[in-house]
Amino acid sequence: MKNVILVVDDDHTNLSLAQRLLSPQYRIAAAVSGAAALKYLETHRPDLILLDLNMPEMDGFEVMSRIRSNDQTKNIPVIFLTADALAETEIKCFQMGAMDFVAKPFVPDILLSRVSKTIELDQYRHNLEDMVNIQAQKIAENAMRLGRIQDSVIVGMANLIESRDGSTGKHVKNTQMYVKMIADELLSRGLFLEELTAPYIEDLCKAAPLHDVGKIKIPDAILQKPGKLTPEEFETMKLHTTHSRKIIQTIIGDIEDEHYVRLVADIALYHHERWDGTGYPAGLSGNNIPLSARIMSVADVFDALYEERCYKPPVRPIERIMQIMSEGRGTQFDPVIIDVFIEMLPKLKEVLHINDAKT
Ligand SMILES: [Fe+2]
Repeated sequence: MKNVILVVDDDHTNLSLAQRLLSPQYRIAAAVSGAAALKYLETHRPDLILLDLNMPEMDGFEVMSRIRSNDQTKNIPVIFLTADALAETEIKCFQMGAMDFVAKPFVPDILLSRVSKTIELDQYRHNLEDMVNIQAQKIAENAMRLGRIQDSVIVGMANLIESRDGSTGKHVKNTQMYVKMIADELLSRGLFLEELTAPYIEDLCKAAPLHDVGKIKIPDAILQKPGKLTPEEFETMKLHTTHSRKIIQTIIGDIEDEHYVRLVADIALYHHERWDGTGYPAGLSGNNIPLSARIMSVADVFDALYEERCYKPPVRPIERIMQIMSEGRGTQFDPVIIDVFIEMLPKLKEVLHINDAKT
């Protein structure tokens, strides 16, 4: 199929000359004014435009600037045609994005060679762009695939660790879901806006499953003990937070996403801190506890109460859990977060398929 060239010139002699020279190899569309050329470009996409510079009403520069400012036409290569051979004119043509410049009257071989070279070059550019787009798409698909694999490995590993203390296996997925729900709810209420950006919430959800990985280093006898832990056993149990942080730093410490690594480490280390400073391992209080860990703490405690564990039955009804948790307002939990969480009861019932009619 022949390439299409739009020739724009108010001089009919030039138009027919260009047409005669080019038509054996190309399909020619002719426009006798800038306005006619722009009208043609509303519905056509030629492979090249030969644009006369000196035209009445709208000159070539004006036509060129309109072509370049329209997304549909801005990439069409343009060769200027002019009898004005001044260096400044030529410079301006190139500054405006012309691919080339041909002096009038045309020397047939020069015109033909510049036209064919420009079209060839533009085709290379298109091919290159296509190749770059295909590669970029492949890279994005691979990154997404790797991301999905990484997420499922993290969740799988976390599940494996959680399963040791006899939890139902839902803890990892559920706490991740609660963390996301709480963060979204806080954001929708205009709270913690500075921290709760979209990337922060995404990282927070990816980080949540890793909060208890340190439990892998806690002996079964403690992890699976049906009754209450002795003070010594509890001291050992508390170490899962520092173990978690160490493991995380070993596994993902050298990945480049510093923000994610810090968030995972914060959640792991501080999710048992309490608002009043009596938690562990650091005894941080109030806003000194990272927001991520304050959110995680609410999600974690809710799930621990809601699900059955080897050492306790599930707490029911859910309203009782909310009551227990509200008693920790300002002592165990950030008062702002717990207030919002309590108000999320209808949403929690919905995701947990709790039907009031049945209870
Ligand atoms: Fe924990």
